[in-house]
Amino acid sequence: MQDTQTIFASRFLEDVVDGLSARPKTLPCKYFYDELGSDLFEQITKTPEYYPTRTETRLLESLAGDLAALVGPRARLVEYGAGALLKTRILLDAFEAPAAYVPMDVSAAFLQQSASDLSVEYPALEVTPVVGSFLDPDLAIDIPGGPGRALGFFPGSTIGNLDDAEINLFLQKAGEDLGPDGWFLLGVDVNQDPSSLIPAYNDKAGVTAAFNKNILKRIRHELGGSLNLDAFRHEARWNAAQSRMEMHLVSLSDQTISVAGHRFSFREGESIHTENSRKFSLKQIRALARDAGWDVHHLWQSPDDRFAVTLLARDGQMR
Ligand code: AVJ
Repeated sequence: MQDTQTIFASRFLEDVVDGLSARPKTLPCKYFYDELGSDLFEQITKTPEYYPTRTETRLLESLAGDLAALVGPRARLVEYGAGALLKTRILLDAFEAPAAYVPMDVSAAFLQQSASDLSVEYPALEVTPVVGSFLDPDLAIDIPGGPGRALGFFPGSTIGNLDDAEINLFLQKAGEDLGPDGWFLLGVDVNQDPSSLIPAYNDKAGVTAAFNKNILKRIRHELGGSLNLDAFRHEARWNAAQSRMEMHLVSLSDQTISVAGHRFSFREGESIHTENSRKFSLKQIRALARDAGWDVHHLWQSPDDRFAVTLLARDGQMR
């Protein structure tokens, strides 16, 4: 355990030093999610401004019957980056005798707990959690065998955190994991309207600001960084050219912070870019899928057209 923690801590430090040495400064968004960060994200999904979770949940409820008919009995569901499993339950409840569920997450404790809760609720379901990052090309995913369809599930538009190359790798790897008959259910934010996007990433109650600043909090606590959380402010920016929301931590003054002996200077107004949340067009989704060997088999959109759920099948395997 001690060893694992040491390795993780040093990788975190390495990523922080690399990110803060880059121009513009940046930090990887995966570091938002310690226990507090995961909890803050759950709170974000309940703010009135953050529409994606609510919109996708309603959409899944409305499409679940049609999807269940397409997928057929004894489905084997593989979830990439399993969170609170609320959306998972919508699918499991609609499917006919689902056979297996393979949740994958970086947070081992969170994953074990939610997986064991689910096992109790669905005693006939074989639940085999995998601890790891869905971005790790070497992560081995064993899907229990069976006659039912293997269905990958990647909700929440988390795919929007990835760049094109990462999406390509991820979707190709998923194709290998799920096999030639495997399908993939992907949730994507397709909203392009900054008047609802900016508030969604800058809620009035300040939950998103606390979520963004949690990365600084972790640097201070886990890496012994000397920095003041109040010396930065949260900013949500719409980057129209790249069609993405960006989160930044903007320095309120000229200042120098230090992390494990490394010093980083900021000018007033200089930012650390902490997250991209890309907002896709349907055309872009089709192209990204196709480049990774998938076809769009089915597409459902929310009534307000802000969110889409697509069912992908392997290229040439559509039937
Ligand atoms: C969990 C990655 C889908 O990008 O919208 C919420 C994270 N960031 N508010 C997103 C997030 C700011 C969220 N994802």
